[in-house]
Amino acid sequence: MNVESGGRVSPLDIGPEDFRSLGYNLIDRIAALLGSLRGRPVTCGESPVDVRQALDADRDLPNQGADPARLLGHAADLLFDHSLFNGHPRFWGYVTSSAAPIGALSELLAAAVNPNVGAWPLSPMASEIEAQTIRWIAGMLGYPTDCGGLFVSGGNMANIICFLAARQARCGHDVRAKGLNGARLRLYCSKETHTWVQKAADISGIGTDAIRWIAVNDRMQIDLSALRQQIAADLAHGDRPFLVVGSAGTVGTGAIDPLHELAAICREFNLWFHVDGAYGAMAAILPDAPAEFSGLCEADSIAVDPHKWLYAPLEAGCALVRDREKLRDAFSYHPPYYHFETEAINYYDLGPQNSRGFRALKVWLALQQAGRDGYVETISEDIRLAGELFQRVAQAAGLEALTQNLSITTFRFVPRDLEPGGDETESYLDQLNNELLTHLQNSGEAYLSNAIVRGRFALRACIVNFRTTQADIEALPPLVVRMGEKTDAKLRAAGLRGNPL
Ligand SMILES: Cc1ncc(COP(=O)(O)O)c(C=O)c1O
Repeated sequence: MNVESGGRVSPLDIGPEDFRSLGYNLIDRIAALLGSLRGRPVTCGESPVDVRQALDADRDLPNQGADPARLLGHAADLLFDHSLFNGHPRFWGYVTSSAAPIGALSELLAAAVNPNVGAWPLSPMASEIEAQTIRWIAGMLGYPTDCGGLFVSGGNMANIICFLAARQARCGHDVRAKGLNGARLRLYCSKETHTWVQKAADISGIGTDAIRWIAVNDRMQIDLSALRQQIAADLAHGDRPFLVVGSAGTVGTGAIDPLHELAAICREFNLWFHVDGAYGAMAAILPDAPAEFSGLCEADSIAVDPHKWLYAPLEAGCALVRDREKLRDAFSYHPPYYHFETEAINYYDLGPQNSRGFRALKVWLALQQAGRDGYVETISEDIRLAGELFQRVAQAAGLEALTQNLSITTFRFVPRDLEPGGDETESYLDQLNNELLTHLQNSGEAYLSNAIVRGRFALRACIVNFRTTQADIEALPPLVVRMGEKTDAKLRAAGLRGNPL
């Protein structure tokens, strides 16, 4: 389909009439997909070989171009028939939300205008929308709205941005120019902290050995006295503590560290206080938010992840830094080939990216569609449903309820004729629940992930899903028991389980 525009014929352009009809057709198909999610399996559980075959993965790129209508139709067929749908009402794996449909439309709009949100002159309105969205998110968290902030790809990057701001601010010398130069920087976080912290220590040159993994208490929160002792020991050894990371909702069990107390320790030792709020921070908007959130506003930086509890489609992470100059200090360079003299914000100054897409639009639109009240209602309902699941699991024969924080509930299947405890039984339960999880995930009936809770393998439901209903939650315990009994019987038949106690 070669299109002539102003005298030039391009194999890539699409004229307005064709664009309209391609778009209408695609929107019709997407609308049908969204309407049919509940009736579909969460995933078909296909193997990589099946999926590669469906794609015809080994075929070469054709020399000749093809009709966009056929291409878009084929792409939709492939994706609709061979995807896992995290927007399905029974998807509760990892921390991946159902995506607000307005996000899909806003991605189309953002790509159509295609602003480069690296520099204000290249994206006047988009840059201002991003700045407004950052202010709104900060306001929802009770964080200063004049903080620095920017959108990035997700929680990992948001945390890494804040980490690099902390490194520059607290290293004691200009680490960007000089490198570590022998400084033995040390950072502190609980053993439950997400793996981003390893990537941050690694790519920042500090090294993962600098991470002090602090033990947790029985509520899976960082142990404050162990933290103090470790900081004191490192100082006595001549090391340079620079950062404490608190979690506002750990990835495994949703535990919230005592943020206020962590902030006080950071003040005492002059350390940067960062909060990983990628999963849980948005729950701070609830009128009955857990008390631990009170220290959120004391953080030097916070990572939030709008593609989690703001229900934006992937990708959208957000880094907030209390002192906006500290963010600029960590990333800004002014090469001679840039001519951006405006007083307004140039986002290439605030992060590692140069050219940047318009991630903020989908968040800005969804925030307004639901309003603050809509988010309070939706996040509260996710948490209520997680509590409901915990109660039902606690009452179900064959299930053991383990933890519930925010919207994460963990539990495990325990055959009725097996008494937990003892190394052999516990390691059998780990294996059983591991296999059960694989069966459940492949079945397409519901999708859970796992956590390690007090050393044991647990099933984990994380509800960040505005499509999940009470009935979906009620259906889960009997489903897990049914699959658990089947898996137990299979393992027993294979001689992998000892005699019932
Ligand atoms: C607490 C926490 N931090 C960081 C991340 C990483 O976020 P992302 O996957 O968006 O990079 C996650 C992801 O689940 C998380 O739960």
